[in-house]
Amino acid sequence: MPSESAYSAEPFVPRRGGLPALRRAAAECRGCPLHLDATQTVFGDGKADARVMLVGEQPGDQEDRQGKPFVGPAGKLLDRALAEAGIDPGDAYVTNAVKHFKFTRAEPRKRRIHKAPTLREMTACGPWLAAELAVVEPELIVVLGATAGKALLGSAFRVTQERGTVLEREIHGRKERLVATVHPSSVLRSDDREAAYQGLVSDLRVAARVLDS
Ligand code: URA
Ligand code: SF4
Repeated sequence: MPSESAYSAEPFVPRRGGLPALRRAAAECRGCPLHLDATQTVFGDGKADARVMLVGEQPGDQEDRQGKPFVGPAGKLLDRALAEAGIDPGDAYVTNAVKHFKFTRAEPRKRRIHKAPTLREMTACGPWLAAELAVVEPELIVVLGATAGKALLGSAFRVTQERGTVLEREIHGRKERLVATVHPSSVLRSDDREAAYQGLVSDLRVAARVLDS
């Protein structure tokens, strides 16, 4: 049992019932304080038999409003990059390391500004990602950015060092294949967007080759 002070989604995760049961239960998660200010839980989206799982950081403003991952600007860019790399979105299960939107406001009633989750929040939310992996059993995990990388591969993970190559690691007792790349939001923030975008597509092509082999 976790100690009373530890944040964790674990007590909320059902042991059976597949993705529908997980999604229903995650909507009620109080495993860490992030549920307090967010609109709703944004659980993963896609089929249980998806061949590839894409893991992002946390929902953004649009995702928080709509209740689905990667439906905002970063998601639009990701969809375009996936299509260009030859990965069918229908083959993909899309989720995030953290399931609630974390944000600050410069002033009351002003735009909500994304704030990176802490290691504690990522760890608290980890049981949901572990449960998704156990149900979907993807052939490949695409790690989108540093937060997803740290959540799946540990805090020493560096995207710049690991991107674009096929990694094999044991995660939650299962041997997983992973390809890491930058977060699509980082492409939108980049000074050289076109180069950053081509880098993302090139990493996703490595993932596409794994799925084709
Ligand atoms: N960024 C993410 O990491 N995930 C989303 O769902 C949207 C933006
Ligand atoms: Fe639960 Fe994760 Fe939301 Fe925290 S961020 S309340 S652990 S679903």
